[in-house]
Amino acid sequence: MGSELEKIRGFLRAHGKPEREVYLDLENSGWVPPQVVEAMLPYFNKYGYGHPSITNRRGWEALEALIEAREYIAHSIGARPSELVFTHSGTEANNLAILGAATANKNKGRKILISAVEHYSVMLPANELANHGFKVVQIPVDSEGIVDLEMLASLVDEDTVLVSIQHVNHEIGSIQPLRSIVEIIRDKNKSTIIHTDAVDAYTKISLDVERLGVDLLSLSSHKILGPKGAGALYIREGTKINRILYGALSTQQYWPGVENVPAIVGFHKASHLALEFMEDHVRYMQSLRDKLLEGIIERVDKVLINGPTGNKRVADNVNVSFLYVEGEALTVELSLRGIYVSSGSACTSRILEPSHVLLAIGRKHEEAHGSILFKVSRYHKPSDIDYVLKQLPQAVRRLRFLSPLKT
Ligand SMILES: Cc1ncc(COP(=O)(O)O)c(C=O)c1O
Repeated sequence: MGSELEKIRGFLRAHGKPEREVYLDLENSGWVPPQVVEAMLPYFNKYGYGHPSITNRRGWEALEALIEAREYIAHSIGARPSELVFTHSGTEANNLAILGAATANKNKGRKILISAVEHYSVMLPANELANHGFKVVQIPVDSEGIVDLEMLASLVDEDTVLVSIQHVNHEIGSIQPLRSIVEIIRDKNKSTIIHTDAVDAYTKISLDVERLGVDLLSLSSHKILGPKGAGALYIREGTKINRILYGALSTQQYWPGVENVPAIVGFHKASHLALEFMEDHVRYMQSLRDKLLEGIIERVDKVLINGPTGNKRVADNVNVSFLYVEGEALTVELSLRGIYVSSGSACTSRILEPSHVLLAIGRKHEEAHGSILFKVSRYHKPSDIDYVLKQLPQAVRRLRFLSPLKT
């Protein structure tokens, strides 16, 4: 058996680079536009490469960039700069929110509610707290992935210390009615802390922490075509939260260690590029999304669309189950044709478990296994979608022909 590295190299050598490439695996990660790279580059070796906590010129330059990024990103979600903590990822922001808020407020209660379709970076820290005296309850969702509001109302009680419900689902694109959710929770318990994972909402839906009424909100840079290595957590002033990491030398109260200044500069630039003309970008992405969805329905039989339709679905998301096809096999077949997508749950596709999100909306195991997630961006062209619509039916036909599963 060769090592993983040998296998990867063998695969890349054998297949070469396809003539045309369409990258739609933006749920997992994406490219970084040149303007973002350009903004970051000087912070590696020209200026601002010092430690932002240190009082010398290179440190001050780094601190200046950090303050500018914090101001811009905080204001973009209606927050004050002092309420934004930079982390190194959305995962870290979610962990800080769940572990930090629950443990700091355990005198208020021991019950934690999360939706059944949360990202693992919310679900797993919450499950961990179940080993430490907390009770974790999942709120069911309907067939479109929207939280059952009656069930939510019946679950919030005096013991509920924390509720975490994402704004947009990362796999099926459902947009939760977050304001109504917050009202229901506040009605039942004013002191419950409310967190939302807005990683997949940021730059696609306008966010305002005052209007939404949440206490904690997570963001991630690489999910908005920024670089990997930066995330952020909004912490409403007055919300008690424990640190979950300990160390020295940081400008930030809740996150020790040196800030990743180049990545934060890139996060700032990527936010600016996406937000500057957000409404136009969203309209454009919706048109590509609908072209792809409608094209698939027209050209491929035996498909199931996963997630809601219309304005309950985020602008960039297309998730389809191709019956009698194994999703992993289809991602490889499409990859050979230069089309990059992910199957099932993007973040768990290496362990080949059916996605808990698809199971939560009532899909059977075999339907979940045949699912493919496509994400469009403002940079894609209609001709990219045409290319996918030409290749995809051929790829599905080929796999169905070879498949032992009966069509
Ligand atoms: C909804 C959601 N939350 C959190 C994360 C984790 O973010 P990161 O990859 O920056 O750790 C992701 C990543 O895919 C996500 O889609």
